[in-house]
Amino acid sequence: MKPPKATLQLPYETMQAYGQKVIEAISTHHHAQQERKPVATGSREEMDQLFLETIPENPSNPFEVLQEVLDHVMVKSTIVSHPKAFSFVPGPSNFIGAMGDTLASGFNIFSGGWAVSPAAAELEIVTMNWLLQLFGFPVKKGGGIFTSGGSMANLTAVVMARQLKCGDDFSKAVIYLSDQAHSSNIKAIRILGFHKEQIRIIPTDQEFRFGVNKLKNAIAKDRLEGWQPFCLIATAGTTNTGTVDPLEALAKLCKQENLWYHIDGAYGGAAILGKEGKHLLKGIQKADSLTVDPHKWFYQPYEIGCLLVRNHRWLKHTFTEKPEYLRDVEGNPSEINFYDHGVELTRRFRALKFYMSIKTFGLKEFRKAVDYNMQLAEAVEARLRKSSCWEVISPATLAVINFRYNPIGKSYSEKQLDAINQYISKKVVASREALLVTTLLNKQVVLRMCLINPRTTMQDVEDTLRLCETFAKNKTA
Ligand SMILES: Cc1ncc(COP(=O)(O)O)c(C=O)c1O
Repeated sequence: MKPPKATLQLPYETMQAYGQKVIEAISTHHHAQQERKPVATGSREEMDQLFLETIPENPSNPFEVLQEVLDHVMVKSTIVSHPKAFSFVPGPSNFIGAMGDTLASGFNIFSGGWAVSPAAAELEIVTMNWLLQLFGFPVKKGGGIFTSGGSMANLTAVVMARQLKCGDDFSKAVIYLSDQAHSSNIKAIRILGFHKEQIRIIPTDQEFRFGVNKLKNAIAKDRLEGWQPFCLIATAGTTNTGTVDPLEALAKLCKQENLWYHIDGAYGGAAILGKEGKHLLKGIQKADSLTVDPHKWFYQPYEIGCLLVRNHRWLKHTFTEKPEYLRDVEGNPSEINFYDHGVELTRRFRALKFYMSIKTFGLKEFRKAVDYNMQLAEAVEARLRKSSCWEVISPATLAVINFRYNPIGKSYSEKQLDAINQYISKKVVASREALLVTTLLNKQVVLRMCLINPRTTMQDVEDTLRLCETFAKNKTA
């Protein structure tokens, strides 16, 4: 009896027509997304009503499925690359990057081992070398790996730091980070099995920077108590305020204390492209490992993060396993198998979108975009300072600014101010006109704008502030 045959293929003409519709939708989105409202909301009940169904045993018309997705799924997601998406870390992607990703998926390129995809591995090496150079890391000896994002890059770094500094016994190992470090670092530390007692969260100073003196005291005390300090995680561009820790001073301390020096530059690393950013990030080249996150301020579509290391052998030493089924693909030592540099064996071809975007636009265009973002944030700060109703809580730093509604001449309590600013954010988001949420700084509720979209204009910010002012006045009237 013949087995039933299923090829999961479409006729060539259908694929072409289908592909055209997909590209048409993507290019229209890139061209006209600013005409839509950036915020999408939906309760679980509403989403269930739209999408919940049992698994379909029978086929559907491919064009109908596509249209359904375009009409209902894509529009029910917040547009993180919208000029008025100011919150979290926006995702101001670019079209070439999106097309690169489409190619990577379309050809389903395995980016794990050299033997399977030598060109993909080479492009990852080339793109990585560009980054090593940009950040002042040794290009010949250094290396790295593209990951799904900053969280995975931080996890990869802590695995490596633990392996190289502690080996298998990490029962007395202690790791240091500031109270402004991104939560992904704590997550990484917890995933790796460290106990609470092995994590030191050092309070930051008034400007949200790592308190070096407090850190020195903590290390000294830990040594006296028999702990083994092994790693420090600094931040180059905190998520809350864009603050850069004192990178040079921390490098010196790590050297003195023989600590692994990891810098989380997932948010702020890309500022290296700009004039002012390069100055602010002085000392970043002294890290043992550095997380950068191209799907943030390098304008790439999700997912691409990156871990850079001073010595590529560290990654290989940490992550190499030699199962029998991979014995035929080892290759020679210069041919990197990226599955030996990180957690994943099967990996998508992440380097492609980054490589194509940089080649197409040229680095100059990226530099201009980063400079523009920094200047826009500074212009927003100046605008807020001139207004009688806004108070700047944390000045424009690496394109992030925090502020709150606190009009001159009114004496609201801290509790009232928190309520007003929370209300403003809630109303703005509910209006769907802009994505502007709050954060907490020194226990105050503040509005936070992250201005890394090169297509955001001062007018976009102005419109949003006006909207905020209207809501604030309604609330306080
Ligand atoms: C400083 C910092 N580190 C790490 C991360 C995590 O990166 P990802 O969301 O790409 O996993 C973020 C995300 O916002 C971040 O701002």
